[in-house]
Amino acid sequence: MNALEIRNKYLDFFKRKNHKIIPSAPLIPENDPSVLFNTAGMQPLVPYLLGQRHPEGTRLADYQKCIRTNDIEEVGDNRHLTFFEMLGNWSLGDYFKEESIKMSFEFLTKELNIPVEKLSVTCFGGNKELGKDEESAKYWENVGIPKEKIYYIKDNWWIAGETGPCGSDTEIFYDTGKPKCSPNCNPDCDCGKYVEIWNNVFMEFYRQEDGTLMPLQQKNVDTGLGLERVNMLLQGKETPYDTEIFRPIMDKLEELQKVDDIYSRRVVAEHLRSSIMIISDGGRPSNLDRGYVLRRLIRRMIRQMNKLQIDLDKLSELIELNINILKDMYPELLKNKEIIKTVILEEKDKFTKTLMHGEKEFIKEMEKIKKAEKDTIEGKVVFKLYDTYGFPPEVTSDLAKENNLKIDLDGFKKLFKEHQEKSRAGSEQKFKGGLATTGEMETKYHTATHLLNAALKVVLGNHIHQRGSNITSERMRFDFSHNSKMTPEEKQQVEDLVNKWIKEAIPVEKMEMKKDEAIAMGAEAMFIEKYGDIVTVYKIGDISLELCGGPHVSNTSELGIFKIKKEESSSSGVRRIKAILV
Ligand code: SER
Repeated sequence: MNALEIRNKYLDFFKRKNHKIIPSAPLIPENDPSVLFNTAGMQPLVPYLLGQRHPEGTRLADYQKCIRTNDIEEVGDNRHLTFFEMLGNWSLGDYFKEESIKMSFEFLTKELNIPVEKLSVTCFGGNKELGKDEESAKYWENVGIPKEKIYYIKDNWWIAGETGPCGSDTEIFYDTGKPKCSPNCNPDCDCGKYVEIWNNVFMEFYRQEDGTLMPLQQKNVDTGLGLERVNMLLQGKETPYDTEIFRPIMDKLEELQKVDDIYSRRVVAEHLRSSIMIISDGGRPSNLDRGYVLRRLIRRMIRQMNKLQIDLDKLSELIELNINILKDMYPELLKNKEIIKTVILEEKDKFTKTLMHGEKEFIKEMEKIKKAEKDTIEGKVVFKLYDTYGFPPEVTSDLAKENNLKIDLDGFKKLFKEHQEKSRAGSEQKFKGGLATTGEMETKYHTATHLLNAALKVVLGNHIHQRGSNITSERMRFDFSHNSKMTPEEKQQVEDLVNKWIKEAIPVEKMEMKKDEAIAMGAEAMFIEKYGDIVTVYKIGDISLELCGGPHVSNTSELGIFKIKKEESSSSGVRRIKAILV
């Protein structure tokens, strides 16, 4: 079996269990600048976990492309990946613990033919807030997991970030057959004997700002099965790099290298794949946020290619090969091939230039440090190398390690944050300044978006929620959850309603409040749990209340006349309206 076959088996299995298969969301969340990448399958589904009705129903399954970069430094070992695929099945207020456990067990043992002896599980061990999850343990026992292989762990709790939907989880582990590292070795131990393959989260709470738990309207299940891991285990391999997902690239690197280093080969293979996936979903290198993550990935990869002494001109060939390996799983790569190549190769050229200058500078700094008989590169030097020479701190860290030096990463981080805040303030300033002269239309469209959202709810029903939007000075585009094509009458009604509100000259008020208050007031938001404690809310009479960064006009009368130009399908269960103001 290979990864694609496992994915297909998974989706088929859950289809047979009456789940609707939904497409993977892009790695970069649309219109949600507050999160960098999708880090879990549940992320695009948050509104539905909170109670919004999903157009496809209450049982969903999908594969989700994910990026997690908090472990970027660990890449190169035998298991950490920045890009991975998570297979997931969801119950949105439908089945709960018992059925979820039964289905997971059936899939693993009957579809993937994993012997029961290979499995062990952990359940929530209880804490001050909640008792231990004996219910799940009982269901595991019922399906056939022996009692001694069911463990209670206090940390079995899942939440993305600090606040938001959450709940206890039960995790399924695969026993690699390695000897126990100690008599107490259990799935919670990370010696490598037990590998977590699937996490079933029972999302029934919302963690509020004040730290308390509030029950959600509905009890949900959110499961995530790590595809690369399961694939590796089923093939009896030690690392994902030994499976078909990476093998051809690893072999190619081995063929091209002049210096042998497995760590470097893994970093190149891993970062190349992640970069390809991010660029294909619209990411571009820059010095801020997600652009910076991509830049770091490409630059770390190039550094390791240099270490292996692989000619950087081979990069183009490597990209081709990698797209070829991945195209059956991610067909979108084929149509984005040229842009992927262009972006990576341009970044390579930029980096090679800065690298030459930067390495010289590093050597100078190193000599100073050695002369002063110190062993740490100060944060401000790491920052200078980053800011002036484009050296990601990881590169400095690598070079430092090679020269038996340490780096003051905390000092660097502090300076980096200050710099980020400054440049953010700068770009906001630019934005505001720009708006005074050229951005007037964008501001108007921004407000029109809120009116359109509200009008759609009146005409089509309360299931309407924003799924995305895009504004230029010429037009607005608005994506929303809805299953069927709008009739000409519905379109007319929406248009009339928006124009009526414009005529009524309603003031647009900006308010700051605590997020919980905004939720309590029923404010609209795309990913409510991703906002900070204090949120900005825009209120338009009693028509609309939305979490939003603005900017907006101060009165609806400024908008002119609203016209819908087009209504079409955007993706499954999502419609798109293009509209203009004249
Ligand atoms: N959200 C859970 C996770 O990421 C299960 O999908 O592990």
